[in-house]
Amino acid sequence: MLVKSSLLALALCTLVAVSAYAEELDPTISRVPHDQRAAAQAMKNPVPKTPENIAKGKTIFEGNGSCHNCHGLNGKGDGQAAKFLNPSPRNFANPEFHKNRTDGEMYWVIKNGSKGPNGTGIPTGMLALIGTQITDEEAWYVILYERSFEGKK
Ligand code: HEC
Repeated sequence: MLVKSSLLALALCTLVAVSAYAEELDPTISRVPHDQRAAAQAMKNPVPKTPENIAKGKTIFEGNGSCHNCHGLNGKGDGQAAKFLNPSPRNFANPEFHKNRTDGEMYWVIKNGSKGPNGTGIPTGMLALIGTQITDEEAWYVILYERSFEGKK
């Protein structure tokens, strides 16, 4: 019994060590530079929010978009590659993020990458993915799917 529980403790320690993620940068501040923000915020998602379109977004998030590698299958920012990233990928379950971001601002980041709050810092692990990883149109579907993580435990 004693041996068993110390083995369990050891296993837990290893788990904790492996899952030590870096801090996420402030999710309340836009990543779009001030001079481009109004234009980004004015963009509307051309793809209607239907269950079918959200499902299509999921196939992109988990497929050719490879978003799940960093953002995790549940969108919490805990994907396989996340442990190697500082700052951490965005946690899409956090309602604070959604409250402070329009679809257009999300699109801007997927197109241009993120240099952190107000787009003024050093480049993060969030690279420009439109044109390299996904198409312009696919980005709008994947945004619908990222929105669907809001508030999930
Ligand atoms: C290599 C790792 C990586 C991959 C792959 C990745 N991301 Fe990210 N993503 C990040 C990191 C790191 C951040 C946090 C950047 C920050 O805090 O400024 C982020 C942030 C974001 C944000 C939030 C930006 C904001 O306004 O705060 C969006 C939206 C996003 N990613 C969408 C995507 C989509 C869509 C895909 C797939 C097509 C994707 N990401 C793939 C690492 C990644």
